[in-house]
Amino acid sequence: MPKEKAIHELEDLPGIGPTTATKLKAAGIDTLDKVATASPHELAELTGISVEAAKKAVQVAQESTTLAYETGEQFYEKRMQIGKISTNSKDLDGLIGGGVETNAITESYGRFASGKSQLGFQLAVDAQLPKNKGGLDGTVLFVDTEGTFRPERIQSIAKAAGMDPEKALGNILLVRAITTEQQILTLDRADKLIQEKNVKLIIIDSLTSLFRAEFVGRGALGERQQKLNQHIHRLQMLADKYSLAAYITNQVMDNPGIMFGDPTTPIGGNVLAHAATTRLYMRKSKEEKRIVRLVDSPNMPEGECVIKITPDGIA
Ligand SMILES: Nc1ncnc2c1ncn2[C@@H]1O[C@H](COP(=O)(O)OP(=O)(O)O)[C@@H](O)[C@H]1O
Ligand SMILES: [Mg+2]
Repeated sequence: MPKEKAIHELEDLPGIGPTTATKLKAAGIDTLDKVATASPHELAELTGISVEAAKKAVQVAQESTTLAYETGEQFYEKRMQIGKISTNSKDLDGLIGGGVETNAITESYGRFASGKSQLGFQLAVDAQLPKNKGGLDGTVLFVDTEGTFRPERIQSIAKAAGMDPEKALGNILLVRAITTEQQILTLDRADKLIQEKNVKLIIIDSLTSLFRAEFVGRGALGERQQKLNQHIHRLQMLADKYSLAAYITNQVMDNPGIMFGDPTTPIGGNVLAHAATTRLYMRKSKEEKRIVRLVDSPNMPEGECVIKITPDGIA
């Protein structure tokens, strides 16, 4: 019998070479514990190794790690530390359990002009408010992939919130990404910025549009999903590591296969469906009204509310 190899790091796992390990780490799966609790399909999708190889790696990782238990009470204590950013709408805050949470990804999806970006602008202002006013006393990293960031909207919303509009703008660190490469790099290199500037909210508006534009056709779908998966894992890792909130927007596509009900589905498929903690579906209603539906939440019932998009922001 050959002597069992000791497993200390990712590269010690069978089938995991330096390249695969680097991909895993970039996606936030940077410890044996995390490999042990990952799904083989997810690992395969993230790295391009086969599902069989991934199963083996997960199994070995499980055998080499000891489970760290946490009591329900300890976990509850941790939950109590979660921060929340108000959406400036009492009804919407109520729907999602008090506001947009830290350590989590909140996604809004919907058609053009449904209010996804406007909600982002509102959150970008509110995140700067003091904690007792519905904010997190932080700055905002805003990744604009569609060229729809509007400083004048920030100014109006800030003014209405009783803030100095110029200060509010100054606290938003804007990145205009025009390729998925830039979008991905922005998060990969964000650690220092987050710490130095006390970033408490990361907005990606939209998460999917560049991926959709760059990876066209059936043949590119696998690579697109893999890249998207890594990117969103990275976002979740930043949210956990720095106790910050993440808000992403997503487009919808028409799904002609659905005969009854609403024939629109969010882009990103399963990758996004599993990654976003809270999902909001936004729909246009009469005039300035928008219907927001809570589609998926770990701790709140499904439901709907109506918000208004006004010159002063969300109401
Ligand atoms: N200054 C404003 N005052 C009132 N409503 C506005 C203002 N600016 C934009 N809107 C509303 O927001 C809508 C666009 O919402 P937006 O969040 O940009 O959509 P999307 O879901 O495509 O990101 C516009 O159709 C308009 O109704
Ligand atoms: Mg938009």
